Amino acid sequence: MLAEDFDYGTAFSRTLGWITETEQKILRAKRIAIAGLGGVGGSHLLTLTRLGIGNFKIADLDIFEQENFNRQAGASIRHVGRDKIDVLAELALDINPELDVDKFSSGVTTENLDTFLEGVDLYVDALDFFAVEIRQAVFAACAEKGIPAITAAPLGMGVAFLAFLPGQMTFEEYFRLADQAEDEQLLRFLLGLSPAMLQVKYLVDDTRLDLNAHKGPSTPMACELCAGMAGTHALKILLNRGEVPAAPRGLHFDAYRNKMAKTWRPMGNHNPIQRLGLTIVRKRLSTKLAAPPEKPATMPVTVIDRILDYARWAPSGDNTQPWQFELSSDASFVIHTRDTRDWCVYDLAGRASQTSVGTLMENITIAAQSEGLEAHFSLRDPIADAEPVIDVSLTTLLPLVKEPPLLPYIKSRTVQRLPLSTRPLMTGHKQALEEAVGPGYRLIWVEGRQRKWQITRLLLRAASIRLTIPEVYEVHKKIIHWDTQFSSDRIPDKALGADAPTLKMMKWALQSWSRVKMLNRYFAGTVMPRIQLDLIPALRCGAHFIIVADSPREKTIDYLEGGRATQRFWLTATKLGLQLQPEMTPLIFATYAREGRRFTDSNDKLAEADTLRLALDSLSGGEVDAVFMGRLGFGTSASSRSLRKALEQLKKVKG
Ligand SMILES: Cc1cc2nc3c(=O)[nH]c(=O)nc-3n(C[C@H](O)[C@H](O)[C@H](O)COP(=O)(O)O)c2cc1C
Repeated sequence: MLAEDFDYGTAFSRTLGWITETEQKILRAKRIAIAGLGGVGGSHLLTLTRLGIGNFKIADLDIFEQENFNRQAGASIRHVGRDKIDVLAELALDINPELDVDKFSSGVTTENLDTFLEGVDLYVDALDFFAVEIRQAVFAACAEKGIPAITAAPLGMGVAFLAFLPGQMTFEEYFRLADQAEDEQLLRFLLGLSPAMLQVKYLVDDTRLDLNAHKGPSTPMACELCAGMAGTHALKILLNRGEVPAAPRGLHFDAYRNKMAKTWRPMGNHNPIQRLGLTIVRKRLSTKLAAPPEKPATMPVTVIDRILDYARWAPSGDNTQPWQFELSSDASFVIHTRDTRDWCVYDLAGRASQTSVGTLMENITIAAQSEGLEAHFSLRDPIADAEPVIDVSLTTLLPLVKEPPLLPYIKSRTVQRLPLSTRPLMTGHKQALEEAVGPGYRLIWVEGRQRKWQITRLLLRAASIRLTIPEVYEVHKKIIHWDTQFSSDRIPDKALGADAPTLKMMKWALQSWSRVKMLNRYFAGTVMPRIQLDLIPALRCGAHFIIVADSPREKTIDYLEGGRATQRFWLTATKLGLQLQPEMTPLIFATYAREGRRFTDSNDKLAEADTLRLALDSLSGGEVDAVFMGRLGFGTSASSRSLRKALEQLKKVKG
């Protein structure tokens, strides 16, 4: 279509109905000033152009760079290196060639401010978040000239909106930025924009926010929401209809949280609630959150370090990470393992540790593939039962696997111990999981009300052993990291799946064995943990599974292979969007009963383990060699999780 063929009435006819023809004529005659064409300014311009606004003044001095691609209208390969203002003017004129666009290519400055705002009906703020000084000046000038001024800030995956209308509270009266240091101004601006702070709850990596470097994380959705919010209020202000919340009132809509907050802060940042909020945010910024789960302290540079950096995210019973790495050359290293049989009742034959080491080996295989390498493992002493030492050599992989499909899930895979959706797994999911375990293994599914009850009883029985024998008490005492969301060498209490009062009780009880005994004897101390940690999760999931070895495992290598199959299963489940929690205690106690291993001094509990064995056999349809057992289901991934020891800590010093 040629620009000559453009017809305003036709181009914008589909807005009619929400506005009248007369109102459209009014909008067409209006002039809007937009300062800044970065994150939100470009979207504002294009949205307002499509709304039928006929005249703009736009200001920006930047050029497009790749870093802008995630969110900025106009940021694309063909526009890198070009002035944003030229690109956006072209894009807007492509929508409405009759537009009157006045460009301020040096940006808005105190010198050109009067010209910039001359004849303007509305100012839409889209300046960089960190451009405090000029923003103050523009809003002050708008207040003086009686120009309504609005700002829609992209926060997380939402928008915070403020309007400063003629004769009402001004920008300075609201934000109180005058005479403050820059850091404080930024803080006040942020908290003033969004007193509700809906976005902070889901910020997953606060190290990406760097006030000093003037950098913060952003999303394209927020920018588009801003354009929608600003466009709507522009319409209302310019057509003089509808309610416009003016400062000290504000709006915050967060699409991620499904929330809309309407705020009211008389005196703006001088409001006592705001002052309190500022104190909290100041404190929060000074004490950084725990490091994000997958980020190493120092970026691994060598190939082996990169592989091991993935490898270390393998799951292990109670997060014990029973491995160390000895680097021998550029293409080889050694895995030294140290099982936990001397202190952990769940690992009396070192088999749980060996299963974990298997998951580590699978991670190494996948991570090596991503480097174009094939990992070969060789057990130093295939006969020895304890603490295998494994030589790993890396050779060129042919054919290349460009992006191993399970690689991205190595770091995001985590245990979810909270209740999950009861939606059954789809056939496709089950097939993918059956394929994932590979030859030599099969899956037993435990689904349907009756079978779920059967396994629930089994889990409750295992829990009654788990929570009442001193041998387990010693383990729990050691492996729970209290009052924390993340732990690099244990399991954080917040990841256990119990509510705050139950955790409090558990923490108190685990101080001494006599407290546990007393609580169990007189106060039915195992009731709440059993309900929360076993009963509810057992029922609230899509299915339980048992990975079974076709032929009974005998040697260490068989247990390592079982671990590898388990990891393929777990990573595939993560890829499918499923959450998983291992349920290994019934299996471990039943195995002990089968082997006649006296894992506790309590004869009653030994007898209970034998009953457990029979119940497990009945559930599995006969005696099987169960490699791994757990539950699966749809749900969100855990917000509290075990992290890992740093790679440097896991490297073994030679000699
Ligand atoms: C062999 C093995 C047995 C496990 N047994 C259980 C279990 O019975 N219950 C449970 O909740 N988690 C169990 N886990 C999960 C670990 O506690 C978990 O992987 C570890 O704390 C690391 O956390 P992450 O997997 O969330 O990274 C087991 C893991 C492995 C490898």
